[in-house]
Amino acid sequence: MSQLLDMLGSKYPIIQGPIGSINSPELVAAISEADGYGMLALGFMNDIEEVKRLLAEVKKKTDKPFGANIMIINPLNEKIIPLLADAGIKTVTTSVGFPGKIYPLLHEFGIKGLHVLLSVKHAISAEQAGADGIVAAGAEAGGLRSTGPESSTMVLVPLIADHVNIPVVAAGGIADSRGYKAAFALGAQGVQIGTRFMATTESPIHTRWKEQIVNCTDGGTELLPVDNMMMRAIITPELRTKIQSPGFDMKKEFKLANASKAWNSAEFDLVPAGAGEVSALIRDVKTVKEIIDEMVK
Ligand SMILES: Cc1cc2nc3c(=O)[nH]c(=O)nc-3n(C[C@H](O)[C@H](O)[C@H](O)COP(=O)(O)O)c2cc1C
Repeated sequence: MSQLLDMLGSKYPIIQGPIGSINSPELVAAISEADGYGMLALGFMNDIEEVKRLLAEVKKKTDKPFGANIMIINPLNEKIIPLLADAGIKTVTTSVGFPGKIYPLLHEFGIKGLHVLLSVKHAISAEQAGADGIVAAGAEAGGLRSTGPESSTMVLVPLIADHVNIPVVAAGGIADSRGYKAAFALGAQGVQIGTRFMATTESPIHTRWKEQIVNCTDGGTELLPVDNMMMRAIITPELRTKIQSPGFDMKKEFKLANASKAWNSAEFDLVPAGAGEVSALIRDVKTVKEIIDEMVK
């Protein structure tokens, strides 16, 4: 058994990637029931009662291991972490922030963590800061990105695997058995999947968001400015016309604070539909089990 599988306790090293503050106990449980590692997205969580409710809902639906993503900068982490330990969570992912402070606290509660990052420099410092593993998210991944130059998964994963002695998980661009197998060849012990699990029967995202993923073709996503970061999103012809119209300033128009509203109601001119380059490989909405079974075959 790999070190990663030992940490996760799942049959397959397939981790659900968090999508903003979109949480569905059904999707988390479906991924764990299909022998992957379902994850609650607690990064933006500001309500402890809601954390308790989500944990209880997942536990009602599955006995299999699941985890949670936390953001290091969330001031509620000191209250959230004991709840995760009580719920039996053994491994979390941590993102956004320096891991030095959070890892001693996680370890105090017997929880291990994989730190999500985008560069080899941050992987080396995360290992030194006590991270138990790394999620290396290549430039093709969906979600928030830095404004600096970045490497694709094909380059980032082996580079990080060469520089750290802790397990590496590949994220970005993986949707089927070909990407899954490639991740191991690159030196990863597992994968984190965002976009493919968004286009599933169990996923709670808006139907029009799923349609945009399924209809997205090669080159159909771009990095767009959102606040002072970049976000990979689907560019439809309508959105292209809008962003190219004179006087339209994306930096002022696209605000992270509007993401929940935009995504819940499919108002993608407010904040575009976030998704990875891998959308081009996704041609239909399937069940989580169909996706995982095909991936590991
Ligand atoms: C719309 C969207 C929102 C995301 N939000 C988060 C987030 O809040 N925190 C995080 O750690 N990762 C976030 N991610 C990244 C995913 O968890 C995952 O690492 C990534 O999607 C993997 O690449 P893939 O989309 O090619 O599978 C987000 C991804 C997408 C598509």
